Amino acid sequence: MLYSRIIGTGAYFPEKILTNADLMKMVDTDDKWIVERTGIHTRHISAKNEATSEMAYEAAKEALDMAGVKASEIDGIIFPTITPDYILPCAAAVLGGRLGISGPFAFDLNMACTGFICALNIADAFIKNGQCKTILIATGERLSTVTNYSDRATCILFGDAAGAAVVRADTKHGIRSCSIYADGSYGDLLYMHGMGSTYLANRDTMNLDDEMIVMKGNDVFKLAVRAMSDTAAETLEKSGLKSDDIDFVVPHQANIRIVEAVAKRLEVGMDRVIINLDRRGNCSAPTIPTALDEGIRSGKVKFGDNILMAAFGGGMNWGAAVLTL
Ligand SMILES: CC(C)(COP(=O)(O)OP(=O)(O)OC[C@H]1O[C@@H](n2cnc3c(N)ncnc32)[C@H](O)[C@@H]1OP(=O)(O)O)[C@@H](O)C(=O)NCCC(=O)NCCS
Repeated sequence: MLYSRIIGTGAYFPEKILTNADLMKMVDTDDKWIVERTGIHTRHISAKNEATSEMAYEAAKEALDMAGVKASEIDGIIFPTITPDYILPCAAAVLGGRLGISGPFAFDLNMACTGFICALNIADAFIKNGQCKTILIATGERLSTVTNYSDRATCILFGDAAGAAVVRADTKHGIRSCSIYADGSYGDLLYMHGMGSTYLANRDTMNLDDEMIVMKGNDVFKLAVRAMSDTAAETLEKSGLKSDDIDFVVPHQANIRIVEAVAKRLEVGMDRVIINLDRRGNCSAPTIPTALDEGIRSGKVKFGDNILMAAFGGGMNWGAAVLTL
């Protein structure tokens, strides 16, 4: 039987840190409110010349290193992002160029925070149908470039980061089950219109500053808890594992209260949830691979552990994956 396994992970965070105290100088907010309502203390902000693909290159190098895989062995690159360097060429192609890869496919994936789980699902399918042996999933986001820093309900949440994973064909169990869903009727709960063709066609009347990330936080919150919990429970059942078999949950992290509600529904204690939201904020697609990488490098998460991932993002879309590392 052919399986696909994550055999290496990597993470990169820009040097600059934006604290709650910094945000208090920018909008009407306070540290206590942010920590109590979101769980976030700090987030990273990319430098002006620090491209998404450059950050992803650093994370990808770490993942390849951990996996013991050379760039020349990669059969394809999947790059979940909503903040690519350019619309064209895609970030995956730019990254492939940086890694010196010529030939294998390279495409971006616009699934916002659910991007990593979607990429995992695609990589699993490519590997199981024999089309690829080794796939690099590299994610990078510069959410700071699309955040409205005068909107206190969103600017406190987001951070910049890059995360990567090498997925390889194996005879041992790896990815056990994946689910991904979308419902475009919720598109007005979380959106970013700037630089899309509708914006560009009307740029004489639309102001780019007004077209940054817009979110109805409370509605997103409720939908996120329900969709992430339902999908995680369903994907766990599909995997044949039980809640007690899961060593760690590595969730997307938009708000600690969402994560706690999902963990409660899955009957998993918070000691079995890998959290990096407190230091990193919501980084969109890189959140899951960076949290996983931090878990592995700290020695908490080990190869052989059973992992449950669940995410929710703008679209709206959501998904989950159960795997053995
Ligand atoms: C954004 C979020 C933190 C807001 O928290 P909340 O508890 O839902 O707060 P509400 O939006 O109901 O607002 C409550 C009050 O706090 C205020 N508030 C909002 N942001 C604030 C801030 N940064 N500082 C202080 N007060 C703030 C609101 O203006 C509102 O005041 P009002 O009652 O006088 O109108 C929360 O809704 C959230 O995390 N949502 C999901 C985000 C998410 O998952 N996004 C990405 C998906 S991947």
